[in-house]
Amino acid sequence: MKKDLLSIHDLSLSEIEGIFELAAELKARQKRGERYTPLMGKTLAMIFEKPSTRTRVSFEVGMHQLGGHALFLNPRDIQLGRVETVADTARVLSRYVDGILIRTYSQERVEELACHSSVPVINGLSDLTHPCQILADLFTVKEKRGELKGLKVAYIGDGNNVAHSWLYGAAKTGIDLSIARPRGFGPDEGVLSKALKDAEASGARLKVMDDPIQAAKGADVLYTDVWASMGQEEEHAKRVKAFKGFQVNQGLVAIAKRDVLVMHCLPAHRDEEITDEVLDGPHSIVLDQAENRLHVQKAILVKLLG
Ligand code: CP
Ligand code: NVA
Repeated sequence: MKKDLLSIHDLSLSEIEGIFELAAELKARQKRGERYTPLMGKTLAMIFEKPSTRTRVSFEVGMHQLGGHALFLNPRDIQLGRVETVADTARVLSRYVDGILIRTYSQERVEELACHSSVPVINGLSDLTHPCQILADLFTVKEKRGELKGLKVAYIGDGNNVAHSWLYGAAKTGIDLSIARPRGFGPDEGVLSKALKDAEASGARLKVMDDPIQAAKGADVLYTDVWASMGQEEEHAKRVKAFKGFQVNQGLVAIAKRDVLVMHCLPAHRDEEITDEVLDGPHSIVLDQAENRLHVQKAILVKLLG
């Protein structure tokens, strides 16, 4: 049966560990300059209904490095959702390509595409989740710290798609995750309750709070993301006001662990959710994070399309 990657919630811990093992192997091969092409002759269609730098480039380069081909589909140029249903698009694309990546608004659209497609579908970000990002983030933290279980991660900012996938990822891997956000800015109750259920099995501790200082105290990882996500541009000014006090700055770094890792999925709004000083400072691993999108997604591609 075909397998999709729609949410980290759908993955088992051993599937996550399998992705990380393969990602480490593919990264090592790449660093040695080895050519490894298990996806020779395979094509990935990539539908982007929102802009992207990292996701688009890392998937396209990843397919190329694995011997396959990636096809960028701009919604302005294809029939999806305008004159053709998501279901018909899924059925037709399935006759041409070996996998479909989609970045879109609703999670339901990703699920509908997967439901009607006979080839694997990968979620490249929806309003609700961003699984590829958080798999790469977890892999990056594991590379730096060896173990994920028991690590203290503080997510400061909007309870958005990135925070939701962090909840799912932390719940699977046994992380102690504290999300500090202003009241009324997520996380989604449904996501939280599903993650809390998984946390019972893994021993993860998941907390949502109002106080960034409480979250950051003694943290191994300080994580943030933009306050206004793609599609919320008109709320930007209102959000900047609401998130006052939720900036990741030197003050928060100072109360975290001495060797705290600072992470951001990027793109960053510099001097809004994070200061330049911290984003470019000695604790920041944002470029390693961005690089690992490539290696982790190559592992996902080999597992789903190989
Ligand atoms: N982090 C991330 O998904 O970046 P892009 O929006 O550039 O793909
Ligand atoms: N929360 C952000 C993540 C971008 C990678 C957004 O959805 O715009």
